[in-house]
Amino acid sequence: MTPRAAAVFREYLGDPTGAVVARAPGRVNLIGEHTDYNDGFVLPSTIDRHVEVVARLRSDRQVRIVAADLGERRENHLDKPIDYTDSGWLPYVLGVVHELAQRGRIEFGVDIVFRGTVPRGAGLSSSAALEVATALALDAVFNLWLNPIDMARLCRDVEHRYAGVRCGIMDQFASRLGRSDHALLIDCRSLDARHVPMPLDNHRLVIVDSGVRRELPDSAYNQRRTDCEEAVAILREAENSITSLRDLTLGTLAKHESILPPDLFTRCRHVVSENHRVLKACESLAGGDLPAFGRLMIASHFSLRNDFEVSHPALDRLVEEAIQVEGVLGARLTGAGFGGCTVNLVTETALPDIERQLEPLIEDWSAQSLVIGVPEKAGVTEVVA
Ligand code: GLA
Repeated sequence: MTPRAAAVFREYLGDPTGAVVARAPGRVNLIGEHTDYNDGFVLPSTIDRHVEVVARLRSDRQVRIVAADLGERRENHLDKPIDYTDSGWLPYVLGVVHELAQRGRIEFGVDIVFRGTVPRGAGLSSSAALEVATALALDAVFNLWLNPIDMARLCRDVEHRYAGVRCGIMDQFASRLGRSDHALLIDCRSLDARHVPMPLDNHRLVIVDSGVRRELPDSAYNQRRTDCEEAVAILREAENSITSLRDLTLGTLAKHESILPPDLFTRCRHVVSENHRVLKACESLAGGDLPAFGRLMIASHFSLRNDFEVSHPALDRLVEEAIQVEGVLGARLTGAGFGGCTVNLVTETALPDIERQLEPLIEDWSAQSLVIGVPEKAGVTEVVA
């Protein structure tokens, strides 16, 4: 535990002896957007930013939580309903605690302090990192032995039930199972996953935060998911074997174009083409063909902008300007869209050029850009003696 975390724990919650320290990273999605809740493919990678949770068992059913970076503190009893309306972070931490209690896995309360380095609300999965770090800490405190995929599922359920976002499993899965120097190809139907080596050589991934903030539950995110479900219901009338958009090919979609309202048709076209791009992107990585990978990223962005309609003028501008720069192989919005970040694949020598090109578009380049270092891995880092 960092001396600062220990000091915060001592200040608010007392002696940290016996506490468990767990970490989980944020993620950047390289390609495969809005495909996870359609049973499709995604290719995220963890980033070198994380959330750290320090948790200690209590002998009663009280739960005390301190957000160290914000200096905020909340308390709740395991048997009392939760008031989520007062804080942005509370549903994620308390949601994990309550979900485990409801499933009969924990009977006692905990003291928790958390802090983190994942930018919040930027589409880099700070909430998933918080959920996963909390789940990992509780797993160790209560000896739950949750397997990693079940833990990712639990955290996804927390997001649905306690935060009101009907997200897919990508973020929690990536945060829990991601590994250094690899991207993670996830088949969101079977939940089979493969660590894909990322031979970036003399290239770097650069994340640029547009500064535009979105609130997932208030945004059109849930609406997009509903659109996809409606499209499946319509297509199923024509072909019973279609249980999710994963089952569609461009051929089947073209055959049924006339029965779909135009906006649902384009939503489907994005999902089908994006699934194809993810698999192609893995082939490009395996073949060391980064220019091809970059072209797929750009195609993904335009599909998200035109067909799925989740981009934002600020993100479009960042992508359009980035791809003007020689040495930028690819650029796209990453995460849910409607704001947040772009991810750019950049030759090392072009790093100053992309900065020069994009700096005028955002308020503070040094605060809003991030050249990804070695991706982090989730885990329990310490039991405080
Ligand atoms: C958010 C959700 C994910 C996924 C992406 C879009 O990050 O949490 O489940 O749907 O948006 O790809």
